[in-house]
Amino acid sequence: MFIAVVLSTALVVTALIVNSWRPEYQTAQPTAAFVRATGKCAECHMQETSAVVHEFEMSAHAKAGVNCMDCHQVMQGQESLDHRGFVIAKHLTSQNCAQCHAEQYQQYLRSRHAAPAWAAVHGPDNFTPEQIAFSEKYHKGAVDRPANALTYLEGESAVTSGCASCHSVGKPQADGFIGTCTACHSRHNASVALARMPRTCGQCHMGPDHSQIEIYEESKHGVLFEAQKAHMNLEAPPKQLTTADMPVPTCATCHMSGLEGMNVTHDTTERLSYWLFAAISDKRPTYQSGQDHMKSLCLKCHTQPSVDQYYVDAEHMVETVNEKVRKATKIVQDLRDEGLLTPQPFDETIEFVEFDLWHYYGRTAKHGAFMGGADFVQWHGNYELLAKTVELEKMAKEIRAEHAAEADVGEHNKQTSMAE
Ligand code: HEC
Ligand code: HEC
Ligand code: HEC
Ligand code: HEC
Ligand code: HEC
Ligand code: HEC
Ligand code: HEC
Ligand code: HEC
Repeated sequence: MFIAVVLSTALVVTALIVNSWRPEYQTAQPTAAFVRATGKCAECHMQETSAVVHEFEMSAHAKAGVNCMDCHQVMQGQESLDHRGFVIAKHLTSQNCAQCHAEQYQQYLRSRHAAPAWAAVHGPDNFTPEQIAFSEKYHKGAVDRPANALTYLEGESAVTSGCASCHSVGKPQADGFIGTCTACHSRHNASVALARMPRTCGQCHMGPDHSQIEIYEESKHGVLFEAQKAHMNLEAPPKQLTTADMPVPTCATCHMSGLEGMNVTHDTTERLSYWLFAAISDKRPTYQSGQDHMKSLCLKCHTQPSVDQYYVDAEHMVETVNEKVRKATKIVQDLRDEGLLTPQPFDETIEFVEFDLWHYYGRTAKHGAFMGGADFVQWHGNYELLAKTVELEKMAKEIRAEHAAEADVGEHNKQTSMAE
């Protein structure tokens, strides 16, 4: 009896000592029982911001017993906020999700949705040297590069409400983490069904410079998905997803899902073989494994000969678009080499025509060929490449003629002033 009392007292004292070593952001929290009553937050927020509570109630988190405080607690390096008897984090980041989903965070970190997405706009300034080194290992030159020229030409407000709204998927956070995880999952209704909807990706993957959602909607896959989605099991757990749940692929299926036993991945680079976004699309260093991964996915639903033929045609498109873009950009490069253009980007009309040529039409043709968008290969792609090349040739001729005329006038003025 005596031994039991001594032992249990020792245990309590030890617990108290250990507890006093814990950082303040942990001990300042109310008791577990208090928090478990998610009720406290929900009860009041039902009056204040009811939509948040309704969204949360629909989520897999509510069903699994994850509560408001599990996400809103203050993590290492985060600013705290005294809030109605609770201490909550002022801003949440991917750290708040990664405490329970570390694997997804690590996969995401390797993808271009992480640091490279932010650096594409802002350059490397907001990253730590370790973060830069990590990303450069997977995507050479994607983080350690200057900020995009358009950011200073268009100005702060255009960047904040424009570029950054999409590229913040990889924003570096004050707590040392990257991103927020909410771009595809939303804040309060994390569900795989939402993440599998094409529109979720189409928030950012849209428009003339990356028309993936429009291409998908034109493709047989997109048309069938639209017609049949009500009969699909979009909530199937990722590790058990079969073609019976989703016989038609969406963006997520091809780029991320673990269909029929494949690996689920948050690294959207894993199944790619070219840098299609580039002016001239070269093979990625991971060309072979990228193509093997994607083809093995197609093969869950198609036969080998049809998949191989599809890739032969798409790769041929990449080659011919590369050739067309090389020819067109040479027209402008020749003018630069002859000193007929200023060295600054985006200060002459011809530079915009050149940029649109590859950034809109070249990209669109290549994406269309890989994702089943015939109209995007043709009328929004190759046709425009042809039309813009003719336009560039005409503009180059005019620029040369103008300079020749100016040179003549200059020569004439020099001669008249010498005669005087
Ligand atoms: C008694 C009412 C009440 C309770 C309890 C309450 N909140 Fe709030 N909360 C509010 C109100 C009102 C606001 C609007 C801003 C303000 O007045 O602080 C708010 C704002 C917030 C914000 C936004 C803060 C910001 O700076 O934008 C978050 C996040 C939040 N609450 C989370 C929680 C969580 C998590 C809990 C439970 C741990 C909780 N709240 C408990 C009433 C409450
Ligand atoms: C899965 C994690 C998660 C859970 C669970 C969660 N939240 Fe949130 N909540 C977030 C994130 C992420 C944000 C965005 C915060 C930011 O941007 O700093 C947020 C923002 C908020 C905001 C600000 C909303 C706005 O639009 O201004 C309120 C209020 C809030 N949460 C209340 C709650 C309440 C109440 C609960 C429980 C019923 C809850 N949250 C549960 C992740 C969560
Ligand atoms: C509607 C969302 C959206 C907006 C707004 C947006 N982007 Fe993008 N951006 C994307 C997407 C999606 C891609 C990926 C394209 C692909 O891989 O086909 C991308 C790709 C890029 C790339 C090529 C990839 C790389 O890492 O080099 C650069 C550079 C870029 N964007 C810069 C910008 C700049 C600068 C702005 C603002 C002037 C901007 N973007 C505005 C969504 C957007
Ligand atoms: C580009 C969009 C996107 C982003 C960003 C994203 N996810 Fe996901 N996530 C998905 C998709 C799509 C699925 C479902 C894959 C499938 O079809 O099985 C998913 C599934 C999940 C799952 C369920 C996995 C399982 O095996 O049960 C978790 C957990 C998850 N994501 C967490 C995160 C976390 C944490 C982050 C931030 C580090 C994050 N996600 C960022 C798109 C995204
Ligand atoms: C306290 C731990 C915890 C936190 C914090 C947390 N989750 Fe979860 N999450 C879970 C559990 C438990 C499940 C349900 C069981 C499972 O599928 O693994 C889940 C499921 C999910 C799913 C799959 C949903 C579905 O439809 O099956 C996604 C996506 C997800 N979480 C994303 C997030 C994101 C994004 C955040 C941060 C904003 C986050 N989680 C924060 C524990 C957590
Ligand atoms: C919040 C905006 C946003 C959302 C939502 C989004 N993406 Fe992206 N995605 C981007 C940006 C920005 C890039 C370009 C990053 C870079 O290369 O700089 C990108 C790049 C990609 C790439 C190319 C990666 C590489 O290695 O070149 C793929 C594939 C991709 N996204 C697929 C998806 C899928 C699938 C979804 C939906 C499940 C999705 N994205 C949702 C913004 C987004
Ligand atoms: C049937 C499968 C499939 C579907 C559905 C699909 N994609 Fe793709 N996607 C591909 C293939 C194949 C490629 C080219 C892969 C390569 O480089 O080898 C590709 C390329 C891309 C790229 C180009 C990355 C780069 O190099 O610039 C992005 C971004 C992308 N897809 C996003 C999306 C989005 C967003 C959706 C939905 C709106 C979508 N995809 C639907 C198969 C698919
Ligand atoms: C989850 C199953 C699934 C996956 C994965 C899938 N597809 Fe499909 N695909 C379909 C279905 C279903 C159809 C419609 C077939 C029909 O008309 O009966 C289709 C149609 C097509 C068509 C149009 C055929 C025609 O003549 O109308 C092409 C091309 C195609 N897929 C290529 C691909 C490629 C390439 C990949 C991999 C990058 C891929 N698919 C991945 C299910 C899938």
